[in-house]
Amino acid sequence: DRAFGIKNSLMEYNPGKCLLPPFHDKIAQQIIDAPVREDDVWLISFPRTGSTWCQEMIWLIGNDLDFETARNTIQQIRAPLIEMSTVLIQYQDTLGQELLGNSVDLVNNLPSPRYIKSHLPLPLLPTELDKIKPKIIYTCRNPKDMCVSYYHHCQMFHQLDITFEEFCDQMIRGLTPMGALFPHYLSFWEKRHETNILFLKYEDMKKDLRGTLKKIANFMEKSYTEEEYDKLCDFLSFQNMRDNRGCNLEVLLESKYGKDYFKKTGKYFIRKGQVGDWKNHMSPELAKRFDDWIEENTRGTGLTFD
Ligand code: A3P
Repeated sequence: DRAFGIKNSLMEYNPGKCLLPPFHDKIAQQIIDAPVREDDVWLISFPRTGSTWCQEMIWLIGNDLDFETARNTIQQIRAPLIEMSTVLIQYQDTLGQELLGNSVDLVNNLPSPRYIKSHLPLPLLPTELDKIKPKIIYTCRNPKDMCVSYYHHCQMFHQLDITFEEFCDQMIRGLTPMGALFPHYLSFWEKRHETNILFLKYEDMKKDLRGTLKKIANFMEKSYTEEEYDKLCDFLSFQNMRDNRGCNLEVLLESKYGKDYFKKTGKYFIRKGQVGDWKNHMSPELAKRFDDWIEENTRGTGLTFD
């Protein structure tokens, strides 16, 4: 609690382990033991790396571009975050628990093929992932932009009340939720050549959305026409994703804070969608500290960021 600078005891830090909501205890073992199916597609990522965007790409590509359902059914029901219960427990008197129940049960009961998302680090994911080897897509992002984005996220969802500089310091020390960044990135970067793994970077998704969609479709053994890719690109544009209540999380926030959350607060889950926003937030000294931290942790790994 002290480490993270939040008021409501939402997060717990276990030294040397990982900062997670205390409620995670209730489902941690259930996640580790969750059965994995061969035809699953798992999206694993550190938060704020474009995972909601990518999960929408994956779900649509896997579901014959069913835009109608993507608009009308929230992503958590179609393509659940397996640890979502730990977030939803805050919202239980309204939408969350009532509508969605236990997120691990939700995943366990989904018909195949399933599209499942998680932000958990590798040791807390289902052990069967390694044995069954379903398709796994991993997204990462330049840590400086990720950190800016995560700061806003934590203010929105975890009542974070520390300064951006303090948050950066916590991030570098591995004290933000989900724990240390580089072990998370590198545990999948090291597996990137395995045939069931597709490793993606947010910056590439931004630079070439169509190319990314084709790469994902190829990985998922699906094919679409150029016209269909036009429609996909349009559906997945920043503005359309931001307005899409199927995946912009407004339904969840409204269940806690009341109607029109985004309009009233001016804060959006799908916030800015840019590469290089860190330049608007970091002093040259802070940016240098990040550069050194990144260099130290990626040296010799081949992992680079635009
Ligand atoms: P910003 O906060 O920098 O805007 P995640 O879903 O993993 O939490 O990642 C959230 C980040 O992905 C946010 O970054 C969000 O705006 C960005 N994002 C979501 N949809 C996007 C889209 N269609 N185009 C570009 N960025 C998008």
